[in-house]
Amino acid sequence: MAEHESLEFGKADFVLLDNVSLEEFMTNLKLRFEKGRIYTYIGEVVVSVNPYRAMNIYGRDMVEQYKGRELYERPPHLFAIADAAYKAMKRRNKDTCIVISGESGAGKTEASKYIMQYIAAITNPNQRAEVESRRLNLFYRPALHRVKNMLLKSNCVLEAFGNAKTSRNDNSSRFGKYMDINFDFKGDPIGGHINNYLLEKSRVIFQQEGERSFHSFYQLLKGAPDSLLRSIHIKKDATAYNYIKVGGLIKSSINDGADFKAVADAMKVIGFTGDEIQTVYKILATILHLGNLTFGVDGDVTLIENTKLVAVFSDLLSTKDENVEKAMLYRTVATGRDVIEKQHTMQEASYGRDALAKAMYERLFCWIVGRINDIIEVKNYDARVHGKNTVIGVLDIYGFEIFQNNSFEQFCINYCNEKLQQLFIQLVLKQEQEEYQREGIPWKHIDYFNNQIIVDLVEQQHKGIFSVLDEACMNVGKVTDEVFLQGLNGKLAKHAHYTSRKLSPTDKSLEFDRDFRIRHYAGDVVYSVVGFIDKNKDTLFQDFKRLLYNSSNPVLKGMWPEGKLRINEVTKRPLTAATLFKNSMIMLVENLACKVSSLDDKPFVLNTHEPLHFKITCLRVSAQSFEWGSEKNMFRTLLCALHQAQRVKSPLLFEQERCRHQVEYLGLLENVRVRRAGFAYRQTYPRFLQSDTLQHVLTRPLCPSSRYKMISEFTWPNHDLPSDKEAVKKLMQGCDSTTTRPTAKPSLEEQRVEMVQRIVLFLQKVWRGTIARMRYRRMRAALVILRAYRRYKVKSYIREVNRRFKNVRSMKDHGRHVKWWAWTLIKGLSPEETLQVRAKVASLEALKGHRADLGLQRAWEGNYLKRDSPDIASSFTLVSSELQRKDKFMRVLFSCNVRKINRFHKAEDRAVLLTDRHLYKMDPLKQYKPMKSIPLYNVTGVSVSPGKDQLVVFHTKDSRDLVVCLQGMVPANESRIGELVGTLLSHFKSEKRKLQVNITSPIQCSMNGRKCTVIVEPKINQSQPDFTKSRSALIHFLCVTSI
Ligand SMILES: Nc1ncnc2c1ncn2[C@@H]1O[C@H](COP(=O)(O)OP(=O)(O)O)[C@@H](O)[C@H]1O
Ligand SMILES: [Mg+2]
Repeated sequence: MAEHESLEFGKADFVLLDNVSLEEFMTNLKLRFEKGRIYTYIGEVVVSVNPYRAMNIYGRDMVEQYKGRELYERPPHLFAIADAAYKAMKRRNKDTCIVISGESGAGKTEASKYIMQYIAAITNPNQRAEVESRRLNLFYRPALHRVKNMLLKSNCVLEAFGNAKTSRNDNSSRFGKYMDINFDFKGDPIGGHINNYLLEKSRVIFQQEGERSFHSFYQLLKGAPDSLLRSIHIKKDATAYNYIKVGGLIKSSINDGADFKAVADAMKVIGFTGDEIQTVYKILATILHLGNLTFGVDGDVTLIENTKLVAVFSDLLSTKDENVEKAMLYRTVATGRDVIEKQHTMQEASYGRDALAKAMYERLFCWIVGRINDIIEVKNYDARVHGKNTVIGVLDIYGFEIFQNNSFEQFCINYCNEKLQQLFIQLVLKQEQEEYQREGIPWKHIDYFNNQIIVDLVEQQHKGIFSVLDEACMNVGKVTDEVFLQGLNGKLAKHAHYTSRKLSPTDKSLEFDRDFRIRHYAGDVVYSVVGFIDKNKDTLFQDFKRLLYNSSNPVLKGMWPEGKLRINEVTKRPLTAATLFKNSMIMLVENLACKVSSLDDKPFVLNTHEPLHFKITCLRVSAQSFEWGSEKNMFRTLLCALHQAQRVKSPLLFEQERCRHQVEYLGLLENVRVRRAGFAYRQTYPRFLQSDTLQHVLTRPLCPSSRYKMISEFTWPNHDLPSDKEAVKKLMQGCDSTTTRPTAKPSLEEQRVEMVQRIVLFLQKVWRGTIARMRYRRMRAALVILRAYRRYKVKSYIREVNRRFKNVRSMKDHGRHVKWWAWTLIKGLSPEETLQVRAKVASLEALKGHRADLGLQRAWEGNYLKRDSPDIASSFTLVSSELQRKDKFMRVLFSCNVRKINRFHKAEDRAVLLTDRHLYKMDPLKQYKPMKSIPLYNVTGVSVSPGKDQLVVFHTKDSRDLVVCLQGMVPANESRIGELVGTLLSHFKSEKRKLQVNITSPIQCSMNGRKCTVIVEPKINQSQPDFTKSRSALIHFLCVTSI
């Protein structure tokens, strides 16, 4: 939750001042500074005061505190701004930028480094960087994410070559830098690009007292190993080199030795090759030696005095002595078709030497930036595959400067600051006020100083200082700086912000024919015109370019592609330094403004002629109400660094006057006023309510649209109010607007976060329900399909049966070929016949393939005793009726005379009668008197042999098997075993009982518990079957039958 500073630290936001006056502003700033609070907000702008001491406020714990938080949740901090920019970029999927302004030494570069560190630390948490260290070069850890590593390390190299100690700042950036960090759709850094602006190259050959040249020279001398220094002919003594000796004497806390190693290491890690690094050192050495090169005259001839250096140059530049000498002393001039070599005067030679030194250093610096860009640029990124790639830009450019002697460079730097101030004014003060007025919102105009007039003074076409300078440079013949000054005096005599001694003769602070003064927004600066023309023309004799292009060192050659041109090739007049700088500044400001506008529709609203469509949604910012929605943070992520304590750079001293001056000229107080009276949050109505679908919101969480409509029932999912404005009003009714403390009221953003959670839950619920319903429907469908399929199968079976058997009645074989004849035949049978067919089928099933003659061809009569012995049929019938009466059987299944064997091995003639209840054994000799009856439920099975014989064994439960052989058949040899087995089986089946049928030989049986084996032995001439006892010990009986 929000964590706030207590009031002892003053107001964390100048907007909350009781009275907006400079006094209160300064009192609050001072109080906070003295309490160690160097950051204070003006709305979303951070004002920082350079503490000039290490502050323990950039550690990991701080990163954690600010990560993902809203601006107002924590005390003011740089990290809050960095987080706001990052969040804004992710939320809206648009580019953002952080502009850091302030005078030289105010802490801009340090701030930009902390911002980079913070972004590195919060992105891709698995590979987070440590941010405790203030020195970037402690970041060299191989485990770090490649891109982040490169971005951070590139800083170290750029600072070595682009920064220098000035009277205001030991590590002053002498170039402007705008760095884009590219992020993929997940918000992870994937690359970057650095734009560098105007390097102060005059510093290479000259520094004011108390200042140094670029760090790289001192680092080389202090940190390079002896062997390296020997190879480039350099001594360890800075005072031995004219170009850097002034700075070499200065004592400072800079550790050049350690920095050299860090830079060398960084170059290696970034990906500079060994040859490239060597060439860098050679160029530095060449420049140092150039400073010591002196010329003399002998009569008309200009000479190199210290000729030993020529060999050094040719070695360092990988070229020939004579080429070096010639380039130093002559220039090749094309006159028409002729090419002549013109000797330099001593002055020209010296000028050429210095120009060469400056140009080589500038080229080197740009080449380094280019190499870094090659390495860090986003590669193989396809937006269609990887999603949109967005950018956070960080601008750290030279601050406003006033030196003892201000020249062309200071003029450019201060113009650049005017441009940035103009951007600031445009965004914070001008457009906003104009917009309120146009929108008809009651508004009391807040006055501010608009520096557009100064910007115009410098850059306006035809009249501006740059134009006058360019005109002067274009003049043929001898053009002097004085001529340029005269031009200025002529064109700008009436300008309120321009003056010179000629225009104000009494002003002794200006030198005649040398100085002019500009009243900048940040103060008056006197510029000396000396060198303006040269610096603007920025000429380097073509001979030098050819010299370097023809070097056998490919790295050096690559830096000078124009050296390829032949001397008589006509080229377009190159743009002057001022024009180049002006163009780059205009482009930069446009780029920043477009990032700004892409984050908010505001400029769009301003430019449209139909503003009615684009009303502003807002919460009023006043002493009573304040909404801290952070929608605008991203383009206001602007940092005003305040420089203080210039002279002593003391951490304890708060230089009231200096700070007051900066607060005044930066227009901070006006900013506070506009912030208080204006709206902290605004957006066009349609944008605010964009009617996207729910899916849209969820599937494209980065989508900037429909951010807040879910927080009100009136607007979610779509409003049906007469206008967007009404809908927005409804939406805002939920937000109490009368609280005094900005943080007391939950912001739209917080409400949204809460609602998003609820929506997510709701969606999960709906989605789960949907899934369950879908599954249920699938199951139901499967069931229906299953049923339909079954029905279809049955139907199609019946249809098939129908089709196949349709005409069986009329078929010759009664459909036998379609296996239908049986039913047709059976259909017409009497019940007796049906029984017989069943018995035959049973017999067929049991015996087919095992026994030969099943007697299927004949009618199965069953009760054969009547037929076989007609003489005694009457007595049998009598007995049979008697048994039927007594045992209540329903029908006779089978009867036949048999030969039987008993347990005493005695074979006798008997008869068997098989009814549906019993198996009777009868004595034929005694009128078929029943001798034994076995209930059928006692019969478990029958065994027959596979032969032709009529042997059958009835197995019983009580192991009293009945072994008989059918005999006395009429006709003789009629096979009845098939009938007996079939009839018995069919009967058992009708009673749903099982009957075991064995077809084996020999047959195992059990007689009164004794196991017996019966084997059939066919014999010729055996008329009747008989049983004999076997001689073999294993076989008990032989059933002798005829063959
Ligand atoms: N946040 C900070 N904490 C401690 N010292 C700082 C801080 N910001 C700046 N400084 C000090 O001020 C000096 C100048 O800062 P720098 O960022 O180089 O200024 P600018 O880029 O605005 O010219 C730094 O070298 C450092 O000593
Ligand atoms: Mg700087």
